[in-house]
Amino acid sequence: MTDAFRLQPDAYFSDDWFRLEQQTLFRDAWSFAGTVADFAEPGDYRLVHIGAATLFVIRDKTGSLNAFHNFCRHRGATLLDAAEGNTGGAIVCPYHRWTYGLGGELRGVPDRQSCFADLDRASLALKPAAIGVFKEFVFVNPNAQARFDDWIAPVRDQVWPHDIFASDVKEAAPLVYDVKCNWKVFAENAIDGYHLAYLHEHTLGGPTPDKNVWENAGDHMIWFANEDGVRHRLPKKIREETGSTGVISSASEPGYGGVFFLFPATLIVPTPYGLSVTSLRPLAPGRTQLDVRQWVGPWQWTDERKYIPGFDKKTGIISSDNWTKPALETGDFQTEDIWICEKVQRGLSMPGFNFGPLSEGPGAEDPIRWFHESLRRQMNLDRKEAL
Ligand code: FES
Ligand SMILES: [Fe+2]
Repeated sequence: MTDAFRLQPDAYFSDDWFRLEQQTLFRDAWSFAGTVADFAEPGDYRLVHIGAATLFVIRDKTGSLNAFHNFCRHRGATLLDAAEGNTGGAIVCPYHRWTYGLGGELRGVPDRQSCFADLDRASLALKPAAIGVFKEFVFVNPNAQARFDDWIAPVRDQVWPHDIFASDVKEAAPLVYDVKCNWKVFAENAIDGYHLAYLHEHTLGGPTPDKNVWENAGDHMIWFANEDGVRHRLPKKIREETGSTGVISSASEPGYGGVFFLFPATLIVPTPYGLSVTSLRPLAPGRTQLDVRQWVGPWQWTDERKYIPGFDKKTGIISSDNWTKPALETGDFQTEDIWICEKVQRGLSMPGFNFGPLSEGPGAEDPIRWFHESLRRQMNLDRKEAL
């Protein structure tokens, strides 16, 4: 297997690379915006950051979900500031009070007669973004022409996690991590089957590369536990009581994969007890925010953030800056992952570093190869020089 398509170290720390990603990959990338239930009433909205763009999803008065870029069509002021909320019946720009309907139309312009003799309101609606719904998940893309069906098709017919939103689940407190690594370092660690038994020896305790497998689904990937060629799958129903973890259904029962990586930057992780969705948000070449939303049975609902290493009550942010004991002594595998990702970021940024070989196999580091091939194609890299 050739590693000709691998990215070089500067892809993880240079400003030029970061800018190029923002201008190519993230100009046309699907990102998780929330669940349908987040937008119950007309005017309910949520902001979504994708690369340099900020979009918002909003329900209008006809019941439709719409997505728009979060800027005013007059002089560009951002419109909505809070991460989520309800706009009421209209979106009003605070600068000169241009007023938009929930469907994006420009409804009102103060002193229109005297100030804008022949304003073409129809051409000044909010700039639309693309939106798509799969199961209960709402996704958006800054490129209004992007086709959601093309993106989601490879996972649409996969055996999918329990119908969680039909279950008696509740959302637990969202988690926000500030991680000192490039977003691709975190993504590659999430799809790396080779490290599970070693870095996580005392938390996950495995599996070894021969006992797990990643499967391609277009640019997406799905993870399964795998023993003696049998894919163990998690049970279809979420369990209704707490109990031993690691419950695995028999191989003959239909089930679903344990991790869904949706290219480029979304992870959906079903467990026997619930479901989490993690969005990777690149903040800088060496800095990534993880936004984690999680749904669990009500029997399990507690605000567990105070138990998470590095959680700062004042800011609500989880960061290695606030760790009070060594990562490998926390018993928390996410902390172990963050610790190793920050170490990788430091090492690969040093002068003279070059990547060694990737291990082979779909339960080892093949998924990193697939990820790079997808990135190169989406960013048109093979046609650009000097990268
Ligand atoms: S910038 Fe929004 S009304 Fe002027
Ligand atoms: Fe890990």
